[in-house]
Amino acid sequence: MTSPASPKTYHVKSFGCQMNVYDSERMGDLLSADGLTAVDTPEAADVVVLNTCHIRERAAEKLYSDIGRLRQPRADGSRPTIVAAGCVAQAEGAEIGRRAPDVDVIVGPLAYHRLPELLKLARTGRAVDIDMPAVPKFDSLPQRRIAQASAFLTVQEGCDKFCTFCVVPYTRGPETSRPAADLIAEAEALVARGVREITLLGQNVNAYNGGLTLAGLIRALAQIDGLERIRYTTSHPRDMQGTGGDDLIAAHVEVAKLMPYLHLPVQSGSSRILKAMNRAHTRESYLATLARLRAARPDVALSGDFIVGFPGETEADFQDTLSIVREVQYAAAYCFKYSIRPGTPAAAMADQVPEAVKDERLARLLAAVAEGSLAFNRSTIGRRCTILLERPGRKPGQLIGKTPWLQSAVVSIPGAAIGDLVEVDIVDAHPNSVEAVPVVPSSQESAAA
Ligand code: SAH
Ligand code: SF4
Ligand code: F3S
Repeated sequence: MTSPASPKTYHVKSFGCQMNVYDSERMGDLLSADGLTAVDTPEAADVVVLNTCHIRERAAEKLYSDIGRLRQPRADGSRPTIVAAGCVAQAEGAEIGRRAPDVDVIVGPLAYHRLPELLKLARTGRAVDIDMPAVPKFDSLPQRRIAQASAFLTVQEGCDKFCTFCVVPYTRGPETSRPAADLIAEAEALVARGVREITLLGQNVNAYNGGLTLAGLIRALAQIDGLERIRYTTSHPRDMQGTGGDDLIAAHVEVAKLMPYLHLPVQSGSSRILKAMNRAHTRESYLATLARLRAARPDVALSGDFIVGFPGETEADFQDTLSIVREVQYAAAYCFKYSIRPGTPAAAMADQVPEAVKDERLARLLAAVAEGSLAFNRSTIGRRCTILLERPGRKPGQLIGKTPWLQSAVVSIPGAAIGDLVEVDIVDAHPNSVEAVPVVPSSQESAAA
């Protein structure tokens, strides 16, 4: 069974966070620049890249089951060239080699600019690059080929925070920021391709310091004509304390293109658990940050991440998490059961919480979050805002766009197209979406009357 000697097509499958989505797109750009054509399914591709996530256990299992499927011979006896990329490749490169001998290339998140070269090397045996090179990969990536109205732009990578549950500092290396001038150039190129909204990405995006602060970068990007909306994620509560946080909050007031939304994961509502997590913020300091932001920008929408069942979490700690969800009224929240990650400090902690308790707490947390999202969505009924149309809706004629508060708004607007920014009124709310109607220009209103 052989993989194709001169591959013509590729497929990149992305797992995990938005930074992986960005990396997947960039690996696609590299392969396209190398003469390969993207195809929609792994089954149709000569090269399949699995861009993995290591954050929870099942993520790694997905890689092995995908490899198992891909290595089955196709009708013509061939199999695709298999690339294991991303955070599992970084953390478990050697083990992947042992458990999945058919993998041709193993490449980490900081080395994927070498992908075309590694594919050539793989013709004579497995090619591996899980170095964390000092020279940034971004300098050797080709032009972006994106054709969507909303794009990701990685500005910062890595993490120095070492939360006791998390693998990211080990898979993505230390915090580094890309130079502001490079980012402005990449953003200008995106806008020239029709992009109207850019989401700045980083594991700790508000720790950005590439010559400008994150707020400074946002102000600079806001000068680009044709760029209509700026977002950023994920922020760390520790970097919101002090002057960096003040500067970002000021940007939320001054920069009209900066959307009124902040994803600020708290993880737990219990300061005791936050300490054991090494989060470097307390419940009180976190709530104080949100209060400062809300005082400056009252309409800001908030979202967060939560972990239930961290080692030692009692029912009383969990009640603190439920109460912070009710107090903040998040527009959205991502809730996870704690999962042991080998090599992290929390993996060795006593008092691991039984699975059944985690399940039961997760269900109660999800119910509280759903209640909060619905209340938030209802609070926006009656607001007039602009939405960026992103995809077709379920029913004919329907389109779905994003409000400034990142809600999915369902709307019917004859003649409107994906990529358009349109003004609407929010008229109804559901737990995961709102309904909107287009604002009829007053001349048309009087003509219709
Ligand atoms: N840098 C971001 C989070 C990146 S990881 C921050 O600090 O907020 C995304 C989310 O995955 C985390 O916020 C956390 O909620 C979750 N997560 C990370 N490790 C986990 C683990 N071992 N078990 C369960 N959830 C985890
Ligand atoms: Fe992981 Fe904590 Fe770093 Fe976020 S801040 S990536 S949770 S170690
Ligand atoms: Fe997963 Fe790596 Fe992102 S572990 S969440 S893909 S940084």
